[in-house]
Amino acid sequence: MTQNTQPHPFLKWAGGKRQLISQMDKFFPKNYNKYIEPFIGGGAVFFYLLPENSIISDNNPDLVNCYNVIKENVEGLIKSLKKHRYEKDYYYKIRALDRDQNKYAELSDIEKASRSIYLNKSGYNGLYRVNSKGFFNVPFGRHKNPKICDEENLRKVSQVLKNVKIYLGSFEVCLDFAEKGDFIYLDPPYFPLSDTALFTSYTKDIFDKPSQIKLFEVFKELDRRGCNLMLSNSYSEFVLDLYKDFKIVTLRAKRNINSNSQKRGLINEVLILN
Ligand SMILES: C[S@@+](CC[C@H](N)C(=O)[O-])C[C@H]1O[C@@H](n2cnc3c(N)ncnc32)[C@H](O)[C@@H]1O
Repeated sequence: MTQNTQPHPFLKWAGGKRQLISQMDKFFPKNYNKYIEPFIGGGAVFFYLLPENSIISDNNPDLVNCYNVIKENVEGLIKSLKKHRYEKDYYYKIRALDRDQNKYAELSDIEKASRSIYLNKSGYNGLYRVNSKGFFNVPFGRHKNPKICDEENLRKVSQVLKNVKIYLGSFEVCLDFAEKGDFIYLDPPYFPLSDTALFTSYTKDIFDKPSQIKLFEVFKELDRRGCNLMLSNSYSEFVLDLYKDFKIVTLRAKRNINSNSQKRGLINEVLILN
């Protein structure tokens, strides 16, 4: 039993911040009131900080459903996850469940969460990607023996989520709660480094330039309110220029650098602070 391990992200999420936390650590505020994370994804920063009073949200309904189900009915989820098998044909059968949206809507929240976690653990590279119709389209992965049901971690995550408020919605929702002294970590889909850069679609809505500008307006409003802010984004001219009046720190991250290959390299990313 690994009793003393902290709860950790229960999904592998594109753009996950796990590998960057050691570089981000010294910039986290020492004291704050509420913790708010409106692009929660896999929640690497949230699970690292384990803040007492927190609000998390995301606009991906399948993802938010996973958080809610783990919070409310982790035992039902564990039972359902144990039924899955790591087999190619079976994977594609489960993946195809969203092709008929009427049938998909009939699944229970537990079945939907169980499917999302199963596909994330068994699919290629643990990605979450949907096509323009919103259908999950990640191929079967090449894992040895994926841990589809990490029950020990799921129970710990459930415990942690008991006091957390979870919302489904776009990032602006944070304006409904943010007050002076709160710490808000914003980790949006990154502004692409080139037009041809592989754009990871977390949902069928693309996070385009107007969305980045809207986020900047929200950032400024949160700054005016006296919140402690931290925002991640790509090291791009557009981002550097937009946030030029704030503190910008450069981090080094290991990322896929070429959309056509599995080549990985170190690239710059930014952390913006107020
Ligand atoms: C870079 S990821 C966050 C990764 C997370 N920090 C982690 O460690 O796993 C960006 C997240 O923003 C979400 N997202 C995209 N557009 C959004 C929007 N308009 N409002 C809220 N969330 C959004 C995506 O579903 C995705 O989970």
